[in-house]
Amino acid sequence: MSIWVNGEEQQGDPRPGQCLRTFLRERGHTEVKKGCDAGDCGACSVLVDGEAVHSCVFPAFRADDRDVTTVAGLGGPGDLDPLQRRFVEAAGFQCGFCTAGMITTAATLSEEQLAELPQSLKGNLCRCTGYRAISDALGGRVNVEKSGGVGDSVAAPAAVRVVTGTEQYTMDFEPPGLLHLAVLSSPVAHAKIVDIDTSAAAAVDGVHLILTHRDSPDVAFSTARHENRADDPDDTVVLDDTVRFVGQRVAAVVADSVAAAERACRAIAVTYEQLPAVFDADAARAPGAPLLHPDKSADARIADPARNIVAEVHGGIGDVAAGVDAAMAADGEVVQQRYTTQRVQHTHLETHGCTGWRDDDGRLVLRTSSQVPFLVRDELCHVFGLSREDVHVFTRRIGGGFGGKQEMLTEDIVALAVLRLGRPVRYEFSRSDEFTMAPCRHPFRIDVTAAAGPDGVLTALAVDVLTDAGAYGNHSPGVMFHGCSESVSVYRCPNKRVDAQSVYTNNIPSGAFRGYGLSQMIFAVESALDELALRLDLDPFELRRRNVVVPGDEFVDAAVGHGDLMFGSYGLDQCLDLVQRALLDGNDAKTPPGWRVGEGMALAMIATIPPRGHFAEASVTLAADGRYQLSVGTAEFGNGTTTVHTQLVASELNTTPDRVEVHQSDTEATGYDTGAFGSAGTVVAGTAVLAACRELRSAMLSAAAALTGSGPHACELTPHGVQCGTRLVEFAELPASLVGCGRHEGTPRSVAFNVQGFRVAVNPDTGEVRILQSVQAADAGVVINPEQCRGQIEGGVAQAIGSALYEQMIVGPDGTVLTQVLRNYHIPQFADIPVTEVYFADTVDQLGPMGAKSMSESPYNPVAPALANAIARACGARVRDLPMTPARVWRTLDQPAPSG
Ligand code: FES
Repeated sequence: MSIWVNGEEQQGDPRPGQCLRTFLRERGHTEVKKGCDAGDCGACSVLVDGEAVHSCVFPAFRADDRDVTTVAGLGGPGDLDPLQRRFVEAAGFQCGFCTAGMITTAATLSEEQLAELPQSLKGNLCRCTGYRAISDALGGRVNVEKSGGVGDSVAAPAAVRVVTGTEQYTMDFEPPGLLHLAVLSSPVAHAKIVDIDTSAAAAVDGVHLILTHRDSPDVAFSTARHENRADDPDDTVVLDDTVRFVGQRVAAVVADSVAAAERACRAIAVTYEQLPAVFDADAARAPGAPLLHPDKSADARIADPARNIVAEVHGGIGDVAAGVDAAMAADGEVVQQRYTTQRVQHTHLETHGCTGWRDDDGRLVLRTSSQVPFLVRDELCHVFGLSREDVHVFTRRIGGGFGGKQEMLTEDIVALAVLRLGRPVRYEFSRSDEFTMAPCRHPFRIDVTAAAGPDGVLTALAVDVLTDAGAYGNHSPGVMFHGCSESVSVYRCPNKRVDAQSVYTNNIPSGAFRGYGLSQMIFAVESALDELALRLDLDPFELRRRNVVVPGDEFVDAAVGHGDLMFGSYGLDQCLDLVQRALLDGNDAKTPPGWRVGEGMALAMIATIPPRGHFAEASVTLAADGRYQLSVGTAEFGNGTTTVHTQLVASELNTTPDRVEVHQSDTEATGYDTGAFGSAGTVVAGTAVLAACRELRSAMLSAAAALTGSGPHACELTPHGVQCGTRLVEFAELPASLVGCGRHEGTPRSVAFNVQGFRVAVNPDTGEVRILQSVQAADAGVVINPEQCRGQIEGGVAQAIGSALYEQMIVGPDGTVLTQVLRNYHIPQFADIPVTEVYFADTVDQLGPMGAKSMSESPYNPVAPALANAIARACGARVRDLPMTPARVWRTLDQPAPSG
């Protein structure tokens, strides 16, 4: 067969059943991305004879003798296609994994179709942006500036590579002799493996290695990665002889091809001795419940394995019962309600995966899609008894993470295979694996008690929390502690109580996800406060103003004070004002006839750095031509830290962003970095970058002063050299060895704020919710890149709208995840997401780099309660369980309206 790809002939016969995507990727066209295998996401879109197709469901043989165009074939030689240029100029991407497919599809649209993007681009999903930036790109809006420093909307350094498909992602590289790994997963929720017969699998053509629990290192770990590995229980091994959820790894096969490895997996015969299973978190902690990890010792750091308790916290101040009594005695109000949240999948378009090999010195090398390459390296050393010098882990650009890649899900089994075989091995999750094997957002059940006098001043605030950890405790202690912290400590109250438990069940494990427990807790607390405001007939903004913490207050949740947490700046008051003003001003969205309209709001506070240590090192060097090389360990997965770091260097060293080259996320080539999570890329790594710049700047000024005989204070750094009086010392005259180094240890920590407002219309006949206005105000300190920060906020709001209204993983009665493809797991499409008005508070943080605060995960957190509050005010009743589907909203319509 012969096809013409971007004007060049490609020959070769496809394998039976092979799709065009793999055919193209195997021939080096890695600009064609893999996001699913079902034609749902559009990341693989190409043109066949000018018509856009999803190449993952397009049989390769049908391209015979036809013209195929990928994103790389759109521009002229050395020039960008106008559409590609528009995506650069509008900052039309974040991780960029969807971008090639998005541009390729858009290339076929007529003017009329471009005016109907929700319909025209319904086959292309973006999980990061919230679609506004893509809409701007296709509309020809210019959102970025060509150059600039802190405060300017500079384009991402990788922009041209992303829009042309040349930016390297994890799977866009294949070492010679690559083998492929596939996994056999458990069909049962709880069982002992009595026997595994691998003889038939071993006979499959092309099989090189079969791994079972007999091959696994006997070292327990957690797939969750944190700076302090003791933060998570050691309850997992590479391959276990007990399975605890449907989807758990049972065995792995390494073969010449994915197909051969999967065929061999199907030939493995496993004999299970089924054990009783428990799927309800409340039942799991009751006496007599089946135990998930009864064999684990105290060394595993499980709070109480005899009761399935992974972690728990109990504490507070004052007396909640007395606070409730005081409210009642004063003719105030008390709200006591239960709220629940559901399982949600991250759905980053790039799935988990890594490729491992041994380098020429015999060291283990892993190229992986991870937010935490240094922590992966350290844990592999722990599991396999290796030294740090024996293991090299690095990332290229990552196609989205949202916390899902703060887990070690593929690296351990690939490492085991490479160490056994000595050959390169790849393991890549399918989209279905993401749903059935990767951790999801923790489901929470939260009982809130909130009491206030008639003036709306809180007299009691208590939360009783139960979270479902699933079969393993990865991230469960952290998610529970974090969830119960800022959600409660943002309010002053003399009587507070937090009781929380995280419990093992035989469900799919839960893990880290944008917001890290706060979104679930804030849904409950902010809903309860709105119910209180309604009953007291108080404006919800006013109720918040009377109760939120202000500088000088202590942070109180289960404990008083949080050591290094402080008000580096405070913009919550401004955020409340900005959102209230925007809702008052309204917009021109029309209310459908007969629908009921309401407005709602909610607020959120978040610590700008994870607690208990988060480390980053950075170094900056100067080249003779005046370019700077920045080395920093944090990974880029669409969060934009590369752009932020580039701007910090440009501002501090008085140069332009195009003269800054960034090397990142490589355990061999950069300094240590705990990882890109907890929104630490700007504040922690950014502070290290700034310190490195300041050291280099000082060294450059001293060297120039010495050369000219002036004092260092008489010298000034310019884009062309160091000006000392009338003499310009050129960069080439300075010593080549000049380097600046910086480090930050993640302390002290500040707080950032987000306030969300919605005006919604509810169809009383169907329960359908339509968003008429969406507003978010953020206190991000000094906003280093306004367009990028706006994109983070819009993307967070879009994700949160999905999980507030419809996203939900459905789990069957036997623990099987039933939502296994994007087609039956609804993530927001173009048509689902309104434009969000974004406003920034005007603050300067005393702790963050150049006054900045983090703003990646927190925009998600106030969205669901603001929607719930708007729906309640629109239709007179309240949904307390997520997602707020039309059916749930419709059912609430028949309930009596709350008093007040
Ligand atoms: Fe669209 Fe990440 S930018 S999926």
